[in-house]
Amino acid sequence: MTTRVLITGAYGQVGVDCVDTFNGLVPPGGSTFLPAVPSGEFDVIAVSHHDLDVADEAMVNRVVEMIRPDAIVHLAAYTAVDKAETDEATCRAVNVDGTRFLAEAGERVGAHVIAISSDYVFDGSNERAYLEDDERNPLGAYGRSKRDGEDAVSPSVSMIRASWVMGSRGKNVVRAVRDRLAGGGEVRFVTDQVGTPTMAADLSRVLVEFVRHRPGGIWHVANAGEVSWFDVIRAEAEIVGAGTVLPIVTSELSPAPLATRPAHSALDTSKLRRELGIDMPSWRDGLQRLLEGAE
Ligand SMILES: NC(=O)c1ccc[n+]([C@@H]2O[C@H](COP(=O)([O-])OP(=O)(O)OC[C@H]3O[C@@H](n4cnc5c(N)ncnc54)[C@H](OP(=O)(O)O)[C@@H]3O)[C@@H](O)[C@H]2O)c1
Repeated sequence: MTTRVLITGAYGQVGVDCVDTFNGLVPPGGSTFLPAVPSGEFDVIAVSHHDLDVADEAMVNRVVEMIRPDAIVHLAAYTAVDKAETDEATCRAVNVDGTRFLAEAGERVGAHVIAISSDYVFDGSNERAYLEDDERNPLGAYGRSKRDGEDAVSPSVSMIRASWVMGSRGKNVVRAVRDRLAGGGEVRFVTDQVGTPTMAADLSRVLVEFVRHRPGGIWHVANAGEVSWFDVIRAEAEIVGAGTVLPIVTSELSPAPLATRPAHSALDTSKLRRELGIDMPSWRDGLQRLLEGAE
């Protein structure tokens, strides 16, 4: 039987990889760390911001009632972390209210709802990687909206925290500096922000398992290995075979970003391994694939 999946934010960087994955395709930069998804298992309904404004409750209800999905993969979000500092109301309308609207509408039609949260719910003061039930203490408006989005839904929703998401399409740091590095340019990246990169293609493949198993609750999904931004971009320069990456610390950034980022927000994914048997590939392997597949 075909499972009907509604994907919001389907044209964002995770969205495009998710649409491919649920359609049984391997997105550019994807891997086979989990078995291929049979084409035809899912009937994918991909909606853009234009098709469905998730902050509009009446529209959400209308679209969900009309489609009556078996699952909703809710990827639409306000993701401009610095802009959120001066536009918190809009950020919250999308990330808190929008997530609640989707969760409530999904529950009414019996759909399993999967939503994405962030490592930015943490303040980054932990010495070890964060576990799902560690205390949250967001440092900025975007992180607060993600925390409150988590609290706005019932425990039957699968709430997946990802971190430092990067895909071979869409906007991310790795793609933003690729041409500069390839042209032999010089870039500076911070050594004092450490986290766990999450490849959009790998996250998308894991989301298939969440639709299949409908576990509910909070989960961490990220590629394996903790690393600083400096080390990620240095690895990118190695893969590209050109460019120079120089170290800098956050306090030296000029102009200083509006939003404060957590210093150490790595996500511990042992629950994913223990309960769903999923071992995430390393971030270095994911980065290599991403750059080889990047458009
Ligand atoms: N990127 C990261 O580093 C990161 C880290 C941790 C968690 N996450 C989470 O992962 C999820 C996917 O992120 P992403 O990287 O794919 O973000 P993205 O590339 O910015 O995509 C987000 C999508 O949401 C759409 N959107 C924004 N406001 C909307 C609204 N009111 N109604 C409907 N659609 C709307 C955007 O469309 P328009 O552009 O047309 O407005 C965009 O296509 C989000 O929940 C994000 O918070 C991301």
